[in-house]
Amino acid sequence: MQHLLGINELDKAQIEQFLSRAQEIAAQLKKGDWDNERLKNKIILHLFFEHSTRTLTSFEIAAKRLGAQVVNWNPETSSLSKGENFIDTIETLTSMKPDAIVMRHADYGAPLTVASKAKCPVINGGDSWREHPTQALLDALTMIDHFGGLGGLNVTIIGDIAHSRVASSNMQLLTKMGANVRVIAPKVLMPESLPFDNIKKFHTLKDGLPNSDVVMTLRLQKERMDRALISSDEAYFNEFGLTLNILDKYAPKAVVMDPGPLVRNVQIADDIAEDPQRSLILKQVANGIPTRMAVLDMLVGA
Ligand code: CP
Repeated sequence: MQHLLGINELDKAQIEQFLSRAQEIAAQLKKGDWDNERLKNKIILHLFFEHSTRTLTSFEIAAKRLGAQVVNWNPETSSLSKGENFIDTIETLTSMKPDAIVMRHADYGAPLTVASKAKCPVINGGDSWREHPTQALLDALTMIDHFGGLGGLNVTIIGDIAHSRVASSNMQLLTKMGANVRVIAPKVLMPESLPFDNIKKFHTLKDGLPNSDVVMTLRLQKERMDRALISSDEAYFNEFGLTLNILDKYAPKAVVMDPGPLVRNVQIADDIAEDPQRSLILKQVANGIPTRMAVLDMLVGA
């Protein structure tokens, strides 16, 4: 495997390889005993054309924990602002021969274009609504940590399924790994087709939540909506926002996850986001480090 561009390209065995390496690294980090020179003398180029808190920072920490050096290219201070186009920018940057590229871009499939030009591994940190593979891997690691495995787990994803790359990658990964996936969304935010036929669609929390082991909330991806599809944040919260009351009523045993950015009182209420018994949200963030170390180790350290 040269690149990591999407979960769509991975089979179950390959997903298991990433997850098992991430588990090994997580255990090593806990003991304070890992190979911190694994990527010594490697230079990793971060090309984030879209903003990020978790993905960008955790890739940087992961790379530095493995001994690599990171270059954080900034589109706002680059020559894109002088009219240079995307392809020439990529040709220019790949000519500098980084050892790996981690990238995020608003355009569907942009990492595939970069991978076709680059002579190094390209890792997708999120493109459009298509894929966010390392998010799905770290989410899976978090579920495995909590439940011991993914097979048979009932995972319900609530929110803007139509515009979410996290939903897209998670639906694929979880189904390939044997979980039962459901999605809940308003009709305007539900895609017509989903990656697998056995993913069940619901339009109310009351119908979709019962028997969930994991409930994952998602942000409204307003930057990818071409018109206002939701009348107001308040209206969305009243119908689809997850509160402790709703969770206790319909899915009393479920834990809650959210990939972030966390928009409180739109997708999720304060009382759940801050509940250490129910919320795995900060565990997801923490698992971003061993997961991304595993991906860098397997693709760049090879
Ligand atoms: N989950 C996620 O991709 O968050 P960031 O946008 O903060 O990287």
